[in-house]
Parts: sequence; C-alpha cells; structure tokens
Amino acid sequence: MDEGLALRCEGLCAGWGETQVVSGVDLRLPAGEVLVVLGRNGVGKSTLLSCIMGRAARHAGTLEVAGRSVVGLAPFARARLGVGYVPQEREIFPSLSVRENLLVAARPQPGGWTLEQVLELFPRLGERLRNGGNQLSGGEQQMLAMGRALMGNPRLLLLDEPMEGLAPVIVEMLVGVLRRLRAQAGLSILLVEQHIGLALEFSDRVVVLDRGQVAYDNQDGLVPPDRARIEALAGVSGEG
Ligand SMILES: Nc1ncnc2c1ncn2[C@@H]1O[C@H](COP(=O)(O)OP(=O)(O)O)[C@@H](O)[C@H]1O
Ligand SMILES: [Mg+2]
Repeated sequence: MDEGLALRCEGLCAGWGETQVVSGVDLRLPAGEVLVVLGRNGVGKSTLLSCIMGRAARHAGTLEVAGRSVVGLAPFARARLGVGYVPQEREIFPSLSVRENLLVAARPQPGGWTLEQVLELFPRLGERLRNGGNQLSGGEQQMLAMGRALMGNPRLLLLDEPMEGLAPVIVEMLVGVLRRLRAQAGLSILLVEQHIGLALEFSDRVVVLDRGQVAYDNQDGLVPPDRARIEALAGVSGEG
C-alpha cells in the first residue's frame, strides 16, 4: 500500500464478461502527476479506464486508488473515493439541461470546484446552461463531460481521448484547460490520447498499450520518452 500513489495497478487483467481485453497491466501514477496512455485503436485503453472506474470486469490483479484497494467497489463508491471519469462517448444526459448535467454529479467539497468555477473554465457552457444535453455540439459535449467530472471534485481524473473528433480551435481550448488542470494541486490525471505529440506535451510519464499489454513504458518518467519507439507502437498512420 502506498498513499503517495493516486493510482496503482499490478498485473491487472480486465475485460467484458469472460472476454479478456487487458492482460497483466502495471501502472503507477504518483499523486499530482499526469500519466498518458497511448496505443492504437482497439488495444484496450478504454477498457482499462472503464475497469479503473468499476465498469469493465476485473479478472485479476490489484487496483488501488490513493493506497486503497477499490476491487469490488461499485462505480459510485469509486466516485466517492475521488475517481472522476470522462468516458470516450461523453455520456451526456440528453434530456437534462446543461445545468442539470453539471449538478447531477456535484459532490461539493470545502475548497473544491463550484458551478461558478466550472463555468469560468468553460464559458461556453455558461451560455448554454438552459440548453438540453441533446442540443450541444461535439465540443460542447466534451466540455460538459469534463465539467461534470470536475463537479465531482475528483482527486484522480480519467480522461478518455478528450480531443477526439473535435475542431482544431476546440482542441486548442481544451489543451489550455488541461494545462490548468495539470497545475491544480493534488489532482492526478490519467490521460488516454492517440495524438503522440499532444500526449508527450502533457507528461513525461508514458505507457503504450498494445493488444492489452504494456508494450512500452519509460519507467515512471525516469528515462525520456523514446518517440521513435512510441510511434512504431502507437502511431496512427498519416500522423506526424
Ligand atoms: N462496453 C464494451 N462492451 C463490450 N466490449 C467492449 C466494450 N468496450 C470495448 N470493448 C471491446 O474491447 C476491445 C478493446 O476496445 P477498447 O478498450 O475500446 O480499445 P481502445 O480504447 O484502445 O480503442 C475491443 O474488442 C472492443 O470491442
Ligand atoms: Mg477507446
């Protein structure tokens, strides 16, 4: 047990029902740091995050959040322990307004995120408070999914490809938001990203998954990321 680690898993095997997708993954994320997980489509990145949140099944291995095993805990109990999750599909409630989407996840904490602060981070959401979740652009949905996660005042934030499919101007804005979040004291971030350049800008702690296994890591950031190696394992064709 190590309370200095926001997240630790060893030999983690996970999947859907009986099907195993993630096989023997070790991760260590110190509190307050960012870890990026790279990998091609279908290698199990989302399954890994989903298992940390308590959705995908854990088949074997340890899984600890802030030094405490979360094995067997339901997703809401993990949220209560400070795990925030922005799923790849965003999962906005379509029939709720933007405001309701934000408040439904609120878990107020002394000194924590408030609705006002989330709207200051995402001014666009402030202009859309009364709109339904089903009336938002992709970029607005992503902002809402991130804002909703922050309303839960996470200590460990799981972000699954937050920039995917968004216009460059929105990506740029979200990069700014991620920079601010990275600077937030005590917040640890596990970022799944397919853009290698973007990922390496955010952290020097890199893990590349391939077919459910760690195919490369740079030893908790002790050695500089080997860009050529990472590109060979995780490169999307056509990406520079
Ligand atoms: N919710 C789900 N239910 C069942 N199978 C899933 C689910 N999500 C992903 N999978 C399966 O798990 C495998 C890995 O997918 P995924 O974890 O989404 O990879 P990645 O995020 O790296 O693209 C795929 O075979 C996919 O079909
Ligand atoms: Mg995915």
